[in-house]
Amino acid sequence: QEDVLVLGIETSCDDTGAAVVTTDGRILGEAIASQAELLGQWGGVVPKLASEEHRKFIDKVVADALHNAGVQESALSAVAVTIGPGLSPCLHVGVRKARIIAKTHRLPIIGVHHMEAHALVARLTEKQVGFPFLVLLVSGGHNLLLLSQNVGQYVQLGTTVDDAIGEAYDKTARLLGLDMRKGGGPALEELAREGDPKAIKFSVPMRGPKYLDCNFSYAGLKNQVRMAIESRNIDGDQVSLSMASAEDRKIRADIAASFQRVAVQHLEDKCRRAIEWARRLAPSLSSLVVSGGVASNQTVRAKLGALASELDLQLVCPPPRLCTDNGVMVAWAGVEHFRLGMYEAPPDADEPDDVR
Ligand code: KG4
Ligand code: ZN
Repeated sequence: QEDVLVLGIETSCDDTGAAVVTTDGRILGEAIASQAELLGQWGGVVPKLASEEHRKFIDKVVADALHNAGVQESALSAVAVTIGPGLSPCLHVGVRKARIIAKTHRLPIIGVHHMEAHALVARLTEKQVGFPFLVLLVSGGHNLLLLSQNVGQYVQLGTTVDDAIGEAYDKTARLLGLDMRKGGGPALEELAREGDPKAIKFSVPMRGPKYLDCNFSYAGLKNQVRMAIESRNIDGDQVSLSMASAEDRKIRADIAASFQRVAVQHLEDKCRRAIEWARRLAPSLSSLVVSGGVASNQTVRAKLGALASELDLQLVCPPPRLCTDNGVMVAWAGVEHFRLGMYEAPPDADEPDDVR
């Protein structure tokens, strides 16, 4: 039987990713171009700049993924591409590329939901993750708790009412004057190792009888951090950590560690409730999947790992490179759809590539 080969393309935010994955879950080749360094200088993602970067990189990233896989475009079985959610000028670059390839080689095309790709990639890395499973998606833009009942079937149990946890990490890192080039989250995690997580008593968001849901809120915590910084006279916005005195550095590390403790406690609180809810809908639940950029955080993994074992679930975190945005997860989501016949016919030769 011939291998089914799916090319996946991801351009929803600031990474241009592509990969070729087989139906039995082998990653034949992948490539990624990240704009984190460039966008770090601007303090965030600027859609127009980001889409220009995608346009610059897309052909090379796709060619590299195919080359690394040792696969010709014409040998592909289907093309999968992220169609949302994301920045629309950025998404457009990937969709256009996918349509050109699909049209040239008469290939079926699969539109992939970005968050579904983050969720399903766990089934690529851990073959024993079967439906139903609970998934916590934690990234810069999303904070979601979903019960995944099947491909394309999700029950949303919770979301953020304001900021996502990754955004809170990034903003806190900026307030603390950290080097944002490697990403606010990793920089903050590193500094927090030097700090005392109990030094500052930030309050855990949305606790108490008023909050009967599985939703998240991180805006208030960010403000608590801001006030802690202001009351301690650290000049985070002007003075970078590299220029801070030892004493100043210790205070910042304490703030970072205390922020992290509370931020992760909030995840644990809401996951605990979500597991209870999910079990009513799906008594056979056996896995908690944690994915998205923040899932590469060690404190997050440790805390949720402990919760999972307390409640008899296996914790599944894809490896960090598959937790952040990448082409593999899109290719794999494509495989999962393709196997079920969930795809579009190849575009006709006279159809335009630029569809919005
Ligand atoms: O999934 P992702 O690559 O992109 C989005 O879809 O947003 O997630 C990026 C987010 C950023 O906010 C980044 O600071 C955060 O994930 N992040 C981390 C860590 N690594 C990445 N946050 C905390 N600890 C980390 N080690
Ligand atoms: Zn993402």
